[in-house]
Amino acid sequence: MKKDILYREQEGPTPFCFNKSVSRVFEDMLSRSIPGYWDQQDFIARFALEHLSDKGCLLDFGASLGASVIHVSKLASKSKRSLNKNKAVLCDLSDSMLENCKKNVQSVEGQWGSMCFQRMDLCDKTELEGFLQTRSDTLEVMILHYVLQFLPLKDRKDVLHILCSRLAKGGVLLVGEKVRSSLDSVQRVWQKAHTEYKLANHYSREEIQKKEEALKDVLVPMTEDGLEKMLGDIKAVRCSLYYSFAAFKCYALVKK
Ligand SMILES: C[S@@+](CC[C@H](N)C(=O)[O-])C[C@H]1O[C@@H](n2cnc3c(N)ncnc32)[C@H](O)[C@@H]1O
Repeated sequence: MKKDILYREQEGPTPFCFNKSVSRVFEDMLSRSIPGYWDQQDFIARFALEHLSDKGCLLDFGASLGASVIHVSKLASKSKRSLNKNKAVLCDLSDSMLENCKKNVQSVEGQWGSMCFQRMDLCDKTELEGFLQTRSDTLEVMILHYVLQFLPLKDRKDVLHILCSRLAKGGVLLVGEKVRSSLDSVQRVWQKAHTEYKLANHYSREEIQKKEEALKDVLVPMTEDGLEKMLGDIKAVRCSLYYSFAAFKCYALVKK
């Protein structure tokens, strides 16, 4: 895993974007910046295996380096579960991410019936709907892990509704998001806990500040209440919070 020192030496992109230099260090960046990142991946794997039938399809939107598919594959192999009739589709908007993702998942690709990679902008609703409509597979597992927060606010609800409408009955959409609290004191405590988490993971205060500036207006967290209302308003699914640490929340949306 290549160490993330992007904002130590001022070469990190400002504003932040998912370019080549970010994709090279992204695994280290996520694991040192998102409290519970690996536990969350473990949960994703458990949910995926719970909801995938013999021939079902898993779609990872904003897959980055394919961490979720790797975790699903490893858990399947540990529990002697065959995926050789299942499909995995890894989607992302960033060419650099997709390029590194292909290399990263090579070791688990053979476990799947098929695996493919799709460059896609989730905000292009015509493209998203077209892509989902042309898939003849049963779409049983969808993953949207720390992706919605990068989309324009106006698009988030529609993206969720489109995904839920094509999810198979009994299937699951896994949504992970960084949120903010509408209560100032809670937000201050969350912010401090997050900074301390990053300091404990050997980011300096300067790096943390530079990265926060780069992410301003790029990663735009919703309020916790706002996100929960948006998820709760999707009538086709039932929503359950399965992971929470301060501002980091993960929800399972199960199709009725
Ligand atoms: C924080 S990363 C996701 C991490 C990954 N899901 C994981 O769990 O390891 C956000 C990803 O979303 C992708 N992304 C951002 N905007 C997008 C869009 N409009 N359409 C599709 N993917 C997008 C980025 O390229 C990036 O790879």
